[in-house]
Amino acid sequence: YTTLFRSFEEIGVDCTQLKNKGRKLILKDEKNNIEFILVKSTDVLTYVEHGAADIGIVGKDTLMEQNKEFYEVVDLKVGKCMFAVASLPSFKNYDGYNRKKIATKYPTVAKAYFKKNNEDVEIIKLDGSVEIAPILELSDAIVDLVETGDTLKENGLIIIEKICDISARMIVNRASMKMKKEGINNLIVKVQKYVDKNEVRVK
Ligand code: PRP
Repeated sequence: YTTLFRSFEEIGVDCTQLKNKGRKLILKDEKNNIEFILVKSTDVLTYVEHGAADIGIVGKDTLMEQNKEFYEVVDLKVGKCMFAVASLPSFKNYDGYNRKKIATKYPTVAKAYFKKNNEDVEIIKLDGSVEIAPILELSDAIVDLVETGDTLKENGLIIIEKICDISARMIVNRASMKMKKEGINNLIVKVQKYVDKNEVRVK
């Protein structure tokens, strides 16, 4: 959040209400006539697809998992992590003929990944703490997000294969992109400039 607020402020958005949000779910920047709607990451796409919000900020993981209509306009380069296949070290010697069982919160991503590798696997959908699944032999491996790697390490798991990099993205409702073209384009340009400048600074 701190990184996002800093970037918003740098492009002229007033984050006063956002920073002191309490339990409010809709907050305003009166000066710029912007309304912030705080929802769960999995609901961001729903609000944007239906046009209840013009713009959304959400992780690429959520975008990959949900098959929805939107424009992905900026890679914000924050919230960086990756999708990976992970398991116990013994999985590396796996030579069973049985269909592998993969536990995950991201069945669409997992299915697509193994399909691309021509592997027919059984997907077991969980809602969290998927690291437990291989330990208790619910599954042979997991597909999950890895950020620091601490959760894997503390549970004795290792990365078997990296799937792809993940970061937060800015998305736009398809109709809003046409109807509010100027305002949204101006914002996209400002945000992209901020991201580019920030990247240079980090390097
Ligand atoms: C995510 C992910 C891993 C963990 C990885 O879970 O599913 O469990 O973070 O982070 P690390 O590599 O830095 O340890 P999250 O915190 O979103 O909780 P959840 O499992 O309840 O969804």
